[in-house]
Amino acid sequence: GVTSLLRVTPSMLKEHNKKDDAWTAINGKVYNMTPYLPYHPGGEKELMRVAGRDGTKLFALTHAWVSAEMMMDACMVGLMVSD
Ligand code: HEM
Repeated sequence: GVTSLLRVTPSMLKEHNKKDDAWTAINGKVYNMTPYLPYHPGGEKELMRVAGRDGTKLFALTHAWVSAEMMMDACMVGLMVSD
């Protein structure tokens, strides 16, 4: 729930770059992609390119028409803040 959202810095985000612990940030929101990896139509490999870093640009380049905000809502773990 909204009360348990983390404030995530870029250095914290960087720690979560493994398949079993893969976070990315899209438009300031931080998502745990791990449960979604097997379901991504573009495959695991593409998702892992943004694991541990900001995925906003690549996400927009590949499918600006997809609403990550709606699809990934259940996987949201926090909000990006600066270091
Ligand atoms: C396809 C969701 C991140 C690369 C798709 C599709 C969805 C989706 C719903 C199907 C789109 C369609 O058919 O119109 C997501 C979500 C993401 C995410 C929720 C956020 C975690 C990414 C990232 C990349 C990527 C970061 C690239 C690094 C692709 C590619 C396809 C695709 C290449 C096309 C696959 C194909 O047509 O064979 N994604 N995506 N996705 N995604 Fe993602």
